[in-house]
Amino acid sequence: MNHIIITGHSKGLGAGIALEMIDENHHIHGIARTDNTDIQKLAAAKGCGFNFYPCDLGHTDQISAIMQLVFANITRTDNIEGIYLINNAGMIHPIGPVPTLENADIDLHLRVNLLAPMLIIKDFITHSSSIKATKRVINISSGAATSPYHGWSSYCTSKAGLDMFTRCCATEQEGEKYPIEFMAVAPGIIDTDMQTTIRGTTDEQFIHRKKFVELKETGQLVSPALAGKKLKELLFSSDFKNGEITDIRHLY
Ligand SMILES: NC(=O)c1ccc[n+]([C@@H]2O[C@H](COP(=O)([O-])OP(=O)(O)OC[C@H]3O[C@@H](n4cnc5c(N)ncnc54)[C@H](OP(=O)(O)O)[C@@H]3O)[C@@H](O)[C@H]2O)c1
Repeated sequence: MNHIIITGHSKGLGAGIALEMIDENHHIHGIARTDNTDIQKLAAAKGCGFNFYPCDLGHTDQISAIMQLVFANITRTDNIEGIYLINNAGMIHPIGPVPTLENADIDLHLRVNLLAPMLIIKDFITHSSSIKATKRVINISSGAATSPYHGWSSYCTSKAGLDMFTRCCATEQEGEKYPIEFMAVAPGIIDTDMQTTIRGTTDEQFIHRKKFVELKETGQLVSPALAGKKLKELLFSSDFKNGEITDIRHLY
């Protein structure tokens, strides 16, 4: 049995990944503020285990309790072959030049995009350290982690931080008895609500807005289903390289 923990499984890329993961040998653990009943129904029809853990990841004080519940459900099952975590939940807001941003928005952004995945990983390591199974983590990154975008300071910073946290965790795990492997993956430009938010900004907030409108209008966005398929292939493949940061857009 493979356990797959996905944050932000409710829509967008996370839903694409979750749908791809539905399999009778898998148990999906979805963490988000809202559930996705289509995934729940399909999982039930295909004999795939599924649990939804309602959680606003901006409330980082709730994460330990959620991860305790997730691992109580995991350790209850027999024959654990693998435990996988995909830190996918994220937000782009706030968009705009730094002086125009609200302090509270920057604070929330860093909690959801950076602090929450760090705390989830901390608990993942703690709860799984004595479990002998394949253990892998993908942190969903972005090209914005390495390229500064005018108006995306919070997003670029949170994704750059997530990349570095990935590398630090990978290094620490190398000497462990039952190590966890880590990668950060930039998924390309995916046709999700996040892209709708980007296109809905003003040119003053985001000077590259028109380019993103053009990408949508010329059909250059990747579907969450295709991105989910490629991420699943990487997660289970021998090309999974501990500590690497990769961009999968060349696979589309
Ligand atoms: N779309 C792109 O072009 C693109 C490109 C590069 C990287 N990414 C990354 O891909 C990931 C998924 O993005 P997406 O495009 O699929 O965005 P999306 O359509 O807006 O979906 C975001 C997901 O994150 C969850 N989420 C957001 N805030 C949350 C919170 N406070 N607590 C719990 N869950 C929360 C949402 O669930 P609920 O609303 O149910 O809570 C939802 O399932 C993000 O990390 C994003 O940075 C996206």
